[in-house]
Amino acid sequence: MSEVKSYISTNRQRFLDELLEFLKIPSVSADSKFKNDVLRGAGFLEKALQNAGVDLVEVCPTKGHPIVYAEKIIDGELPTVLVYGHYDVQPPDPYELWDSPPFEPVIKDERIFARGSCDDKGQLYMHIKALEILNQQGPLPCNIKFILEGEEEVGSANLERFVKENAARLSSDVILISDTAIISNESPSITVGLRGLSYVEVEVTGPDRDLHSGVYGGAVANPINILCKMVASLIDGDGRITIPGFYDKVQELTAEAREKLAEAPFDPEEYKASIGIRETQGEKGYSTIERTGIRPTLDVNGIWGGYTGEGAKTVLPSKAYAKISMRLVPDQDDQEITRLFTEHFISIAPKSVGVKVTPHHGGKPAVTPTDSLAYKAASKAFEQAWGKTPIPTRDGGSIPIVALFDEVLKVNTVLMGFGLDTDAIHSPNESYGVFNYLKGIETIVLFHHQFASLKK
Ligand code: BES
Ligand code: MN
Ligand code: MN
Repeated sequence: MSEVKSYISTNRQRFLDELLEFLKIPSVSADSKFKNDVLRGAGFLEKALQNAGVDLVEVCPTKGHPIVYAEKIIDGELPTVLVYGHYDVQPPDPYELWDSPPFEPVIKDERIFARGSCDDKGQLYMHIKALEILNQQGPLPCNIKFILEGEEEVGSANLERFVKENAARLSSDVILISDTAIISNESPSITVGLRGLSYVEVEVTGPDRDLHSGVYGGAVANPINILCKMVASLIDGDGRITIPGFYDKVQELTAEAREKLAEAPFDPEEYKASIGIRETQGEKGYSTIERTGIRPTLDVNGIWGGYTGEGAKTVLPSKAYAKISMRLVPDQDDQEITRLFTEHFISIAPKSVGVKVTPHHGGKPAVTPTDSLAYKAASKAFEQAWGKTPIPTRDGGSIPIVALFDEVLKVNTVLMGFGLDTDAIHSPNESYGVFNYLKGIETIVLFHHQFASLKK
């Protein structure tokens, strides 16, 4: 057994216990009642980084939740790896659908159940344990810096400023992020693309107050009926988004690139069974992998209005609302898409209602190179730890900071995530495999060695 493996197996229980402690902190960034818990999350990391042997760690206040910065500098001549992760988590709601409470982590069937176990506290903590191992083995093969934020799940509003103001301090040769998924434990993969995001909220207003649906129904526009019709018109029968200009900047992949994507193992029956659906759907002419990886989308995330309480209330509502997300691909620009959506949505509203569109956070899509030294190092690390060459994949989720790092720091990112799509991130009963956690730590240690030696 390698030295790394034996260290991990000797310290397995402690590595798990420490993560469980971290997962007990309800660091929900979206809800201000958890503000102090998010701060506690940052404090936990500060100590954990110190224990792992960094030279310097700072909890940097922002207008929102703090950013934790740390570094272990061995030698200015050595390459530097900047690790990014987020210690905030999605709200756990609905609580009643959890089999065990979201912030009382348990290990069951070799899986860690808790909010944040995979996204991203579990994956972030692997990097701190990897540092501990590297440190224990002798001098680090490279310099390591950490930037850990507490606002990823709410749009990273204060990160851009921090990165710009601290660009020199954050200088590095590669950015390493574990916040994505692999295809399966049998088919490890490296994410080489993430989608961008435009997120808007719409409000449709009819009469100036809720009305009796018998007295007025039939003559007065019902904003919920109208909103549904408007939303339905945004996607045509071929699964194409109808907003004028929406596809103008979408990069079409070459036949060769599409063939390459299709090489990734994918079982449609298993896919359907894993989420309880009978049939997949989407844009005509594209496979499921393409629909979630290289094509843009439009989805309603929530829709409400009128009476939703118990029993029946006959009411013609004054207002209707929806939250709509659009996932974007290169070279779509989130701000431009938000503008195109807004113009179009207002233009299709009948005169009988008023429409308001409010943008939420967004982010740019990102593609990372497969011919960089850093990618090669990650690939070799996977080969060593998993015995298989990882497959490059394009993920459907978004990590807006990747495009920002590219733009501001001019540094490439390697997305070396270890989650599985079935880990139920953002859902009730989120979990993370003990195998993935421990194997991830091993792979990260190997990455640092590989990267440092390739850079020589
Ligand atoms: N880690 C996820 C993104 C992700 C998940 C990428 C799975 C690839 C595979 C991240 O924490 C996330 O949830 N991002 C948000 C966007 C953000 C701006 C709120 C998302 O994708 O909805
Ligand atoms: Mn994440
Ligand atoms: Mn997330």
